[in-house]
Amino acid sequence: MNLPYKNYVGVLDSGVGGLTVLRQLVRQYPCNYVYLADGAFFPYGTKSSDQLLARLRKIISLFVNGGVSAVVVACNTASVFADTLREQFEIPIFDVVTPTCNAVAAATQTKRVALLATDATVQSNIYGTVLAQRGIDVTSFACSAFVPFVENGQVDTVECEQVVADTLRCLPQADTDTVILGCTHFPLLSKHLAKYVGNMRTVQCVTDFVPDDSIKVFGAPNTVFLTTGSDFAANRASLWYGKTRFVHIDI
Ligand code: DGL
Repeated sequence: MNLPYKNYVGVLDSGVGGLTVLRQLVRQYPCNYVYLADGAFFPYGTKSSDQLLARLRKIISLFVNGGVSAVVVACNTASVFADTLREQFEIPIFDVVTPTCNAVAAATQTKRVALLATDATVQSNIYGTVLAQRGIDVTSFACSAFVPFVENGQVDTVECEQVVADTLRCLPQADTDTVILGCTHFPLLSKHLAKYVGNMRTVQCVTDFVPDDSIKVFGAPNTVFLTTGSDFAANRASLWYGKTRFVHIDI
């Protein structure tokens, strides 16, 4: 399928979590964005590296064939593969891990931080590796169990509250001053997380995408929302974002 998105910026995540990154981008840079929620392959955080890499190659090829000028990987689990993807594709590919680590370095005073991320991101140790280069020690919490509650619009349930409690009970004793919300779905869980985060600082994922002059739009910029999964589910889960309307595509 060839998508007509010449001069757009492609933004991807497994689902609605990447909208937390898109929202920052739209506010900061007036560009045309095409956001892809990969609902058919959701969740990313419990998939193998081979499965994920193959899927990401497919999505970025689709973006490239559609004419996008740059890609923002608005997903930590997928950002693990950003360097490998940059070797294959010629367009600029931005991820969230290194920019988020820079924000963490600016936030922490004790240089001891906690990471809440998917099982795959924790297993990759990407945050541990990048932050160790800045002299920062990371205690990780594998939180893939949180993700479906956000994606399915079930944050306001006792089950969700219980899963967060079971996973983060030890967080207050971790002796850290900063908590990385190392999954783009997690800012949408902040009301449950607050109880365990307490007075620690939180750092939400950011990207270092800056448009070059060729893709800046001076006028009314457009954002298009696509999902490979159920458009109904994506529309329901993204209600918090505003007037989002997802259109289903098959990959
Ligand atoms: N939102 C994604 C992340 O930042 C992944 C969630 C998932 O699909 O497991 O890691």
